[in-house]
Amino acid sequence: MELAHVSDLHIRWRPGQSGAPFARYLNKRVVGWLNLTFHRSHPIAVLSALVADLRESPPDHLAVTGDFTNLALPGEFERAREFLEATELPAERVSVIPGNHDTYVRASVGRFEEVLADWLDPALGVEAWPRSRRVGDVLLIGTQSCVPTPVFQAWGAMGERQLSALGEALASDDAPVKLVLVHHPPLLAGGKPEKPRRGNRDAAGLLEACVGRADAILCGHTHRAFHHVHEGLHVLCAGSSTSSVKALGEGATYNRYRIEEGRLLGYEVRGYDPAQGRFVHLRNESLGALEAARS
Ligand SMILES: [Fe+2]
Ligand SMILES: [Fe+2]
Repeated sequence: MELAHVSDLHIRWRPGQSGAPFARYLNKRVVGWLNLTFHRSHPIAVLSALVADLRESPPDHLAVTGDFTNLALPGEFERAREFLEATELPAERVSVIPGNHDTYVRASVGRFEEVLADWLDPALGVEAWPRSRRVGDVLLIGTQSCVPTPVFQAWGAMGERQLSALGEALASDDAPVKLVLVHHPPLLAGGKPEKPRRGNRDAAGLLEACVGRADAILCGHTHRAFHHVHEGLHVLCAGSSTSSVKALGEGATYNRYRIEEGRLLGYEVRGYDPAQGRFVHLRNESLGALEAARS
């Protein structure tokens, strides 16, 4: 099976924006004029091209690791819904978790779960993180690392209850492949810790819950894709899938993981090519040589 991993869409919406049906524009490849009405760092043309790429080659499953929005405004969440609908993937083939921008202020806590309820297991309720689901050979566990933070702060925390539930869920399931979705990475490229004002305050607990039990942590937040291996555990960041692009390979990216015969074999990195106005193949990475040290 193939799992697409996109992140940090930061879909822009402004109060009073015209009611033109947003989804209509997601079908078009180049909508340059719309960029003028949206923030330049996450152009709508790149979001549109991302949707086109997912439609052209639909993955078996899509995971979105947070930061759908900028300010967690209701209008932004409506755009997030429209993005998910525009992929034309049924809800059971999509897994979503929130990012820190989706829980931007205290008043927005719970809005993610409310507006995107169709893509979350309704039986579990709003507070039910972590959320586990079985997708073929894969146990996919969505977690919540986001809390409202003071201005200029973007750190995350997961809490003891969630981490212990995560550890138990990983230990008690016999799925051949186990993947954990989290917005804040526990480590950056090369194993470096994130700055305290941006990092996951429960990074050590997250790693402890996952090492030896999970194959990989799929994350976002840093807006730059990376792959690091920590004690046999792959940490894979998709980057921002809608970043503005100076040149091919320097901006928006997303990953497509290959899972075959109960193993996470490798992944393709796809990136937005501004010259063509579409996502293209950037490179293939193999994970076979670095098999997770699961017991
Ligand atoms: Fe982000
Ligand atoms: Fe973030």
